[in-house]
Amino acid sequence: MAKRKKISLIGAGNIGGELARLVANTQLGDVVLFDIPAKENFAKGKALDLEQNSSVLGYDAKITGTSKWEDVAGSDVLIITAGIPRKPGQSRDDLVATNLPIIRDVANNAKKHCPDAFVIVISNPLDAMVYEYMKVTGCSKKKIAGMAGVLDSARFQLFIAREANVSIKDVRAMVLGGHGDDMVPVLSMCTINGVPVTQFIAKDKLNAIVERTRKGGGEIVNLMGTSAYYAPATSAVAMAEAYLLDQKRLLPVASYLEGEFGYKDLFMGVPAIVGGEGIEKIVEIPLTDEEKGMLAKSAASVQGIVDVVKKTPA
Ligand code: APR
Repeated sequence: MAKRKKISLIGAGNIGGELARLVANTQLGDVVLFDIPAKENFAKGKALDLEQNSSVLGYDAKITGTSKWEDVAGSDVLIITAGIPRKPGQSRDDLVATNLPIIRDVANNAKKHCPDAFVIVISNPLDAMVYEYMKVTGCSKKKIAGMAGVLDSARFQLFIAREANVSIKDVRAMVLGGHGDDMVPVLSMCTINGVPVTQFIAKDKLNAIVERTRKGGGEIVNLMGTSAYYAPATSAVAMAEAYLLDQKRLLPVASYLEGEFGYKDLFMGVPAIVGGEGIEKIVEIPLTDEEKGMLAKSAASVQGIVDVVKKTPA
């Protein structure tokens, strides 16, 4: 019998709720909204509210709330947002003390209950959390990715579209590196449907866009008092969809590196083919010397947090 796919969302907060809405709406499968026991009723209530959308919007997906890992068992995809978000003035790295024990707890349970799921981590500090998840579970590097590059690229592309006064649909750009203030918006590959962006936007304006992209998350934290959730959820769902529908999309995702771009034993945003096997291939693209330098700086920042994580006893 054909079965609907099961997508479990670990963390039923702001991003979790939006993820559930999108997954159901795009008919990717049934949704489990998981949170800690103290928030089980909250998760159940959110699930019910979203499920009641279905008669109006016309989807058959079941959406359930739970705090029991048994309900997550057999998931095809896990999207992890467990943890606390940033408050104004905090960097993503400031979250490591609170979110590290949480990702370890989630990883230990996921290993037991759904070892075969394709896993997308969103919790921050992203590159270190996804690294720790893989270390705890020992999962295949093909089945684990961090969501950052799709979101950072979406921000970058939006700012470019507005400045160039062109449709967002025609902007092609990727942001690589770690999900922090050193991330690398790749200007050398940025085009308006193949036409180099430099034909549309002057260098000083492009530099300002690069800076705004790097602080794109912080800009929203300062405005809202908590971190963004609509675009982060949409970005993660694009990754889940690429996997579930075997789309073989070329997306910038935090992937486990074993020498690609010159880095080893590190997760960082790189272009990768995402399809039915998960992270099917990392695509090494030529970067300018300046971009290589920026990537090295970003990698060093990521390594710094990973070193803190490695020194923190379980
Ligand atoms: N297991 C499952 N869920 C947990 C756990 C845990 N061990 N610990 C905390 N949570 C839940 C919280 O109870 C909360 O409902 O994770 C949820 C997080 O939701 P929000 O506080 O609304 O945060 P959100 O905006 O969704 O961001 C979550 O994603 O982008 C990152 O920086 C952000 O790390 C943050 C994460």
